[in-house]
Amino acid sequence: MKNKYNRRDFIATAGLATAGFYVMPLFASCKTDTTTGHPSLGNKINKDFDADVDIKLTASPSKTNIFSQNSTDTYSYSASIIKGSEDNLQEIEDSYLGPIIRVKKGDRVRVRYENQISGESIVHWHGLHVSHENDGHPEHVIGKGETYFYEFVVMNRAGTYWFHPHPHRHTGEQVYQGLAGLFIVSDKEEENLNLPEGEYDIPIVIQDRTFDDNHQLAYLGNGQMDRMTGFLGEQILINGKIDSTLALSANGKYRLRLLNGSNSRAYKLAWNNGESITVFGVDGGLLEAPKNLPYLILGPAQRVDVWLDLSGQIENKSIKLVHLPMPLDNMMGGGMMNGGMMGNSNSTYLPYNSQFDVLKIEVGSAKKNDAVLPEKLTSANYLQASEAVNKNNPRSFTFAMGGMMEWTINGRTYNGNEVAEDETVKLDTTEVWRINNGNQFSSDSDGDGGMMGGRMHGNGGMMGREGGGMRNMMQMPHPVHIHQLQFNILNRNAEQVDSLLWEATKDGFINEGWQDSVYLLPGMQMDLIMRFEDFKGLFLYHCHNLEHEDMGMMRNFEIV
Ligand code: C2O
Ligand code: CU
Ligand code: CU
Repeated sequence: MKNKYNRRDFIATAGLATAGFYVMPLFASCKTDTTTGHPSLGNKINKDFDADVDIKLTASPSKTNIFSQNSTDTYSYSASIIKGSEDNLQEIEDSYLGPIIRVKKGDRVRVRYENQISGESIVHWHGLHVSHENDGHPEHVIGKGETYFYEFVVMNRAGTYWFHPHPHRHTGEQVYQGLAGLFIVSDKEEENLNLPEGEYDIPIVIQDRTFDDNHQLAYLGNGQMDRMTGFLGEQILINGKIDSTLALSANGKYRLRLLNGSNSRAYKLAWNNGESITVFGVDGGLLEAPKNLPYLILGPAQRVDVWLDLSGQIENKSIKLVHLPMPLDNMMGGGMMNGGMMGNSNSTYLPYNSQFDVLKIEVGSAKKNDAVLPEKLTSANYLQASEAVNKNNPRSFTFAMGGMMEWTINGRTYNGNEVAEDETVKLDTTEVWRINNGNQFSSDSDGDGGMMGGRMHGNGGMMGREGGGMRNMMQMPHPVHIHQLQFNILNRNAEQVDSLLWEATKDGFINEGWQDSVYLLPGMQMDLIMRFEDFKGLFLYHCHNLEHEDMGMMRNFEIV
């Protein structure tokens, strides 16, 4: 159907080939798929698309009162309703974060996105199952003053999704300046469970930031070094605020919707009173059953629903959600810098290997809601390995440092619409993707037998053992994200994860449910199972360490 130009294992999609390759299938799917009402690549409204919810969303420079003294220059999404109800938008006061967009499964949504920031941008709906032209591909960026029209049907289950910019090379910076918001979907199934709602349904966006002496956001103060590791901030912001105190009422049952909206930081979250953390939902919605964990590892872009029952809590007491120490600091540049590779860094950030407060909850006067957390929330219906067309030979993607000191996926970096042969999948098939952090799993790995990088915690360990070579001298976690779909986790192999790191994290991972982002530790290998449905075209998969993504640790896969 389309022309493939093989240049080694690449498919060049430049020039004329692009039009046939990329635009045509979309128009074709337009005709066959009337339920999803595609716009014509976002530049005008499709009059036949009868929206239930029609929103004007604008990204613009703004000033936010994060500190009482000076206002901070930020970027911010603002929105207004053209059609729909007030419930569709929920503002977070005094925050750079965009309004929470709340919709129902099945809603026909139009978003008129206007870019008023100086750089090119485009909005990506993280976790949503939408067509290529609604996915916010970097190739669809618009300049200042331009508008992009999204028109899609909400096909996802109830869950906590989000939106953020996705221009190539500038996602990290734009998110950092404040562009992000939650996109919350509800559905009948979830409504029937009578989970906490309204004031008992609390969004919690966790981010880290660094401010300069004038209370302005500081980003990548150490340039290339910070880019290699990913940005790590000096302080935690909750919902865009430095005061992370929430006032909740005693006896209340709460649904806390956590999003790790940080550029690169992961958290090891636990209650400071030693109680286990009850998780009942992940990226793509409810788990089959709630899960109690001693602590929770929340990588960038991941979401969880946490149950908080304040019955029995005493008024005026407080509870904290804290980050517990985990041995990752040496991977974040310490090892490299101690080895003298990159020169000295003045970088200060909240160390991974220390405990700090993330969220403080003040228990106020009693007010009761009757919500109960059901033991069974939904039926699993997960994808089975036996359904996968490649079950005996999973597609393999290695996230690793490339020879040119760049972050790569299977040795490649992002290049516009380029798709390789091993990135092309078929519509209406189920596949297993094996994602590897580091080269140690590949059978052709040379040198000292594969496990280069060795012990990753000691000084110098980062440099690899003798003969390890450049490409393994820096191993870091990669939060891997796949666009357009929700997958299930078949397997998490930690055999080659550093033992101290694994010991400190192993009880905090959730392998159940529908997810779109996973935190892949150095040496970790995971098998993900996913189905390609409804939409052909180009979609992204990438590292959600936004600095890695901006450096090109991002590729297309194409559904044909
Ligand atoms: Cu939230 Cu392509 O990302
Ligand atoms: Cu995404
Ligand atoms: Cu990465």
